[in-house]
Amino acid sequence: MGLTNKTAGIILAVIGLSPFSLLFAQQPNSINFAEHVAPIIYDNCVECHRPGSIAPMSLLDYETVRAWGPVIKDRVEKRSMPPYFIDKEVGVQSFEDDRSLSDQEIATIVAWVDSGSPQGDMNYLPPAPQFEDDVAWTLEDDMGRPPDLIIPIPEPFTVPADGPNWWMTFYSDTGLTEDRWIKAFETKPSAEGYPVVHHAVTSMEFPDGGGGFLSEYALGKTADINPPGTGQLIKAGTRLNWNVHYAASPDGLDRTDRTRLALWFLPEGEDPEHELIRSHMADNEDLDLPGGEERIRTDGYEYLDKNIRITAFQPHLHNLGTRQCIEVIYQDNRRQTLSCADWDFGWHIAYNYSEEVQPLIPKGSMIHVTSWFNNSKSNPWAGDSRNWVGFGQRSTDDMSFSWISYYELTDDEYDEAVAERHAGFEVGSDD
Ligand code: HEC
Repeated sequence: MGLTNKTAGIILAVIGLSPFSLLFAQQPNSINFAEHVAPIIYDNCVECHRPGSIAPMSLLDYETVRAWGPVIKDRVEKRSMPPYFIDKEVGVQSFEDDRSLSDQEIATIVAWVDSGSPQGDMNYLPPAPQFEDDVAWTLEDDMGRPPDLIIPIPEPFTVPADGPNWWMTFYSDTGLTEDRWIKAFETKPSAEGYPVVHHAVTSMEFPDGGGGFLSEYALGKTADINPPGTGQLIKAGTRLNWNVHYAASPDGLDRTDRTRLALWFLPEGEDPEHELIRSHMADNEDLDLPGGEERIRTDGYEYLDKNIRITAFQPHLHNLGTRQCIEVIYQDNRRQTLSCADWDFGWHIAYNYSEEVQPLIPKGSMIHVTSWFNNSKSNPWAGDSRNWVGFGQRSTDDMSFSWISYYELTDDEYDEAVAERHAGFEVGSDD
């Protein structure tokens, strides 16, 4: 039974736009909601598209999915839903947690909408996925336990109904009495604060004066698990510095928030092989984005004086950004594109490279980040596109850099990692 249905699905997907598809739609095994579309939606959409989650509508039932059909078709064809914007044509192609749809899943949805969105036999409908209570931490499942430490902002903060945007700095004591290595972290605004917390960046202030960037929360980016063999050090007595952007209340209600950061540690006494570092790279603060211009390019560079292994790439632009690419320029002037991703300001997505393809970059190389912006009417995020825009902290100003997660490699470790990589390919050593 499964085989016949699948075969019919594939055939229909291929001829989805032809005049015959309507004819096929009458057949019992034609693409339908219960058998073909619901499994895709349940696996890839309802985590966010369900009551109480962050998306505007629930996609759990046939009627709603059918009604949204044409919009769903448009979003999946453009690959703007699910939110995962890595360019499939250039650069490294293997990522952890890649939530994009396959070409075949997209073709199935398109063919279904084009053939009138038939419901099919609801006996075939898979059970709707069950979700944990919304107050739970989403990483609890992956980590197998509740967080080891939860640090809230020092006191609740209220965004008044008619208030403007706020950029707040808070400090919280972590209460840590010993040094620990962070394995994973998750940030959560309180339920009422959810619509107004646009970003929450934390950095650590060690008692000895050191410290640095710890985590970033932004819409679409809430949690991260550090790659195997790595951890971030947090020292006893660390004070947490919060930089929180509260947007104006969207619905005319006072909104009180108490954002919290949850940490999971490596077991006590277990040191990671490498300290994971997350930092800005190739910042360009000299932005010149003239009003009315649709395609503006900027470039930023970062010289590397250490060998590094890159574990993740996350573009950072604001409202006007449309796309970012990252490449390496080696000392012999060879250039290699690592990744390109389209940009939507509603989503801040870290693209975590699969371990076997994490870029290995020798010291002396340059990281080159290219960003594109659209300050014209065709960009729905542009405010008044007659205005010039430059660099700045507000969402209406812009920015251009990449968040890069990496760890340093000694020369020996670097050589070893390269040799291991080459051993995986049956090609000449020049590749
Ligand atoms: C990580 C959460 C998330 C996932 C996964 C996700 N969506 Fe969304 N979706 C959103 C949010 C939030 C919005 C509203 C903001 C936006 O459009 O970016 C949205 C908007 C949409 C819209 C436009 C709604 C409108 O008002 O125009 C459609 C259609 C859509 N999603 C379909 C899908 C489909 C189909 C899938 C799965 C194949 C999916 N989404 C997966 C969060 C998600």
